Amino acid sequence: MLANGPAVLPSLLLCDFGHLHAEVERLQQAGARGLHLDVMDGRFVPQLTYGPVVVEAICRAAQVPVDVHLMIEEPESTIGAYIDAGADLVTFHIEGVSDPRRPLEQLREAGVLGLVAISPGTPVAALEPLLSGGDRELCDGVLVMSVEPGFGGQAFLPHAVEKLAALTVFREHRSRPLRLGVDGGISLSTVGPAAAAGAELIVAGSAVLRSDDYARAIQSLEQAAREAA
Ligand code: DX5
Ligand code: ZN
Repeated sequence: MLANGPAVLPSLLLCDFGHLHAEVERLQQAGARGLHLDVMDGRFVPQLTYGPVVVEAICRAAQVPVDVHLMIEEPESTIGAYIDAGADLVTFHIEGVSDPRRPLEQLREAGVLGLVAISPGTPVAALEPLLSGGDRELCDGVLVMSVEPGFGGQAFLPHAVEKLAALTVFREHRSRPLRLGVDGGISLSTVGPAAAAGAELIVAGSAVLRSDDYARAIQSLEQAAREAA
């Protein structure tokens, strides 16, 4: 899934929600290799978006893998609903859980990839117990937030590049891949440094959805990422 180099995952946060099905089709036809859905609960972040019912509708319409980014408190209590909705990847924030192992176990049992996200204020060291302990293989990847979670269209925080580079050491001595992702402020000028530092899952919101040519936006980001990786 999502093999062969960096993949741009358009975030639907800025899409036309009045024509959701058409937006999914348009992104797929434009060459999106996966879709990124931002679930916000109005508590972990100020904005409120949608929940499992809408995620399920998008998963039904999608022919590419769907990554559900949970920006919610206590994701443990609702992760099952996103598994049932058909998510292929589920990303939850380390800041929102007491123990990341339980939700990761639940995802692994369901055959869904489980990734952990870190907000800009959270150091890589916060992931060390999870990524270097005996059950480190439970985690399928890390999403480094390069903006404060909550809104699209913000400026890229360069510190994310150092965090990605620091995370690459945890890829060693594993039997399963540790996928690194970056989310927030991705543009033609920021995608290169992020990919060079190790990001393979490249979430792009405004760079794709605010463009009038989705295909050109996705292709040029992916090409810049490939050249830098
Ligand atoms: C922000 C979301 C992002 C957002 C990215 O909290 O997690 O996925 O859509 O949008 P851009 O690429 O515009 O920063
Ligand atoms: Zn996101």
